[in-house]
Amino acid sequence: MGSAGHLCSSLLVVFLLGLHHSSSFWIINVVFPPNAKTRVPSNSTPPLIIVPGSMGNRLEAKIDKPTLVHWLCYKKSEHWFPLWIDLNMLMPVGVDCWIDNIRLVYNRTTRRSSNSPGVQVRVPGFGQTYAIEFLDYNKLAGYFHTMVQHLVSVGYTRDETVRGAPYDWRLAPNENAEYFTKLQDLVEEMYEQYQHPVYLLGHSMGCHYVLYFLNHQPQAWKDKHIRGFISLGAPWGGAVKALNVMASGQNYGIAMVSNIKIREEQRMMTTNPWMLPFEEAWPKDHVFISTPTFNYTTQDYQRFFRDISFDDGWYMWEDTKNLTSDLHPPGVEVWCMYGVGLPTVVTYIYDEGFPNTDPVDFVYADGDNTLNSYRMSLCKHWVGQQEKPVHVTEYRGLPHFDIVFHETVLNQIQNILEGKSDTPTEVDVRDKTA
Ligand SMILES: *[C@@H]1O[C@H](CO)[C@@H](O)[C@H](O)[C@H]1NC(C)=O
Ligand SMILES: *[C@@H]1O[C@H](CO)[C@@H](O)[C@H](O)[C@H]1NC(C)=O
Ligand SMILES: *[C@@H]1O[C@H](CO)[C@@H](O)[C@H](O)[C@H]1NC(C)=O
Repeated sequence: MGSAGHLCSSLLVVFLLGLHHSSSFWIINVVFPPNAKTRVPSNSTPPLIIVPGSMGNRLEAKIDKPTLVHWLCYKKSEHWFPLWIDLNMLMPVGVDCWIDNIRLVYNRTTRRSSNSPGVQVRVPGFGQTYAIEFLDYNKLAGYFHTMVQHLVSVGYTRDETVRGAPYDWRLAPNENAEYFTKLQDLVEEMYEQYQHPVYLLGHSMGCHYVLYFLNHQPQAWKDKHIRGFISLGAPWGGAVKALNVMASGQNYGIAMVSNIKIREEQRMMTTNPWMLPFEEAWPKDHVFISTPTFNYTTQDYQRFFRDISFDDGWYMWEDTKNLTSDLHPPGVEVWCMYGVGLPTVVTYIYDEGFPNTDPVDFVYADGDNTLNSYRMSLCKHWVGQQEKPVHVTEYRGLPHFDIVFHETVLNQIQNILEGKSDTPTEVDVRDKTA
């Protein structure tokens, strides 16, 4: 840890620049995120809590391990060190050490996950913004930085009126009970402090975390404490990509790490089975994964997990499938915003090498390049299902990750926070000059 720091930072830049041009999963990290312009301060800065997407906040670890996967791995650490993003994952042996540190062990009897033996994991920065603004200590991998900076330029104060609610994104809500208690406390604290109900803003999988939270609060509590829910790019019908990630892995464009290697880690996260396409949201005969011997639909998940030799995944899916898949209305005013108009994979086609090779072909439909637009639009069903208004805005040409820093979206969020009522139903963000 740290000795090869300089080389690693250079590698990280290469990795992140590469990522920007390759396909993304839940998030892509941006090197040197765009700067927010200076704005006219607003005198309306209602409290705001940001809930990031999967892999969207830092994690730290402390280890004292009984055994090592490789003699070069560290056995014991005196201090907490970065686990995500850990620069060691970019080194040939480092990636094995990293996987052995970040992996979870799933127990089919208790249906609970635990950390790898001898590893403690903690989520730094709850209630602050640094752990979601940048994912690494060198401040290269920006995530919510541009948005927070924009808010600060209109009068918000970091860690006071705008705060982050990071979580252990390896786990689904059923194993994160403590997080929801902390989130409730944070909402109540900010409500008391600023004498104003709080806005919750989620991105991608973070929106399911927010929905789960709201679904478990009494209506009276929500009426008092929550001003609204701003949802950016939510996989309301699950994500086709989760199947590809578990089958053959996704290295997020890290050239030094093979997809098959990183798959070891990705299969340990219960959030991947949770995000499998929801049965309710897709036609029963829609094929997500096509191989020479079988076509997999939502009806074939048990066989899918068996065929990719990941039987635990089936149990994880059973544990998590009904956490949010019924899309029970949140019961607060909603602004549902997402990108459309970009080709997005809805079927992965593999050759005989399945699941140990990358897909050879794809079928595309409309989306934000990561999620399908019809499934993101399922928030429209809340109109009329709850008393509180539901506003839907589609951004034509806006990629999944860019929604957290695109200027048009940031201005719209500012309008919402300032209480301006008009919400466009469609905004074209394509560069007309290109
Ligand atoms: C799973 O948990 C049960 C009950 O705590 C325990 O008896 C069993 O040894 C665990 N299984 C594994 C593989 O650790
Ligand atoms: C899978 O679906 C495709 C397209 O519908 C079809 O051509 C193919 O024969 C199917 N494969 C199997 C193994 O059923
Ligand atoms: C799924 O939901 C039903 C009720 O809708 C509940 O009884 C059941 O325990 C849930 N299953 C899991 C695994 O949480």
